[in-house]
Amino acid sequence: CSMTPDVARRPLIVGNWKMHGSHTANAELLAGIVGARPYLADVAVCVPFPYLSETAVALAATDIRWGAQDCSAHEQGAYTGEVSAGMLHEFGCRYAIVGHSERRQYHHESDQLVADKAKAALARGVTPIVCVGETLAQREAGETESVVKRQLSHVIHTLAHCAGEMVVAYEPVWAIGTGRTATPEQAQAVHALLRAQLAAATPRAADMKILYGGSVKPDNAAQLFAQPDIDGGLVGGAALKSADFVAICRAAH
Ligand code: 13P
Repeated sequence: CSMTPDVARRPLIVGNWKMHGSHTANAELLAGIVGARPYLADVAVCVPFPYLSETAVALAATDIRWGAQDCSAHEQGAYTGEVSAGMLHEFGCRYAIVGHSERRQYHHESDQLVADKAKAALARGVTPIVCVGETLAQREAGETESVVKRQLSHVIHTLAHCAGEMVVAYEPVWAIGTGRTATPEQAQAVHALLRAQLAAATPRAADMKILYGGSVKPDNAAQLFAQPDIDGGLVGGAALKSADFVAICRAAH
């Protein structure tokens, strides 16, 4: 592993556009984000694959970073529809989200596939943002800890001595797109568990970023980011309006 060193624990705010956007909407959104610089936090947008090129052009002369929302576990080959980490690297991607709950749910991605994707990203110099999180049924059954630990342990074992290079995102499935945010205390409790699990695996755990995702909005961001083990956010819906996204980025310092 030989990633660009990052400032330890400086907050990171990542907009996950999901399957939203158009040439016109992207240009307006990116201009809004660029125009509101500087930020105290690191800021990134993860855009649909076809828009990587225009995003790279729009952000080239700025310190705003960009990435993708997935990548293949394979380097190359007969994998129709997939995009490799090497290709993302060619487009200047700093990040690739892997294991988002929408991919785990709708595309049946297993813990091991997610781990293999994270490894493929790191091998090409792209930082994986590895998502973990429990469903509402799992939380209500008292399984939150065992679920997120199981999801993260596959990645830790697969990345081995490079585990310290990933970014982790805790995204409780019941908080995604529902307007029902985890309380800062609920989120902090899980983040602390995840950091303890990382600490058992890598000496870099104290410097690693663990982002919270799930209905982050301008009016709840500051309280979430004030928690000791929350190092920023992975933002869905609110990342599509530049005023909201900028306000969330400003709430992190
Ligand atoms: P929302 O912010 O829309 O809840 O989405 C969160 C998310 O899934 C980010 O990856």
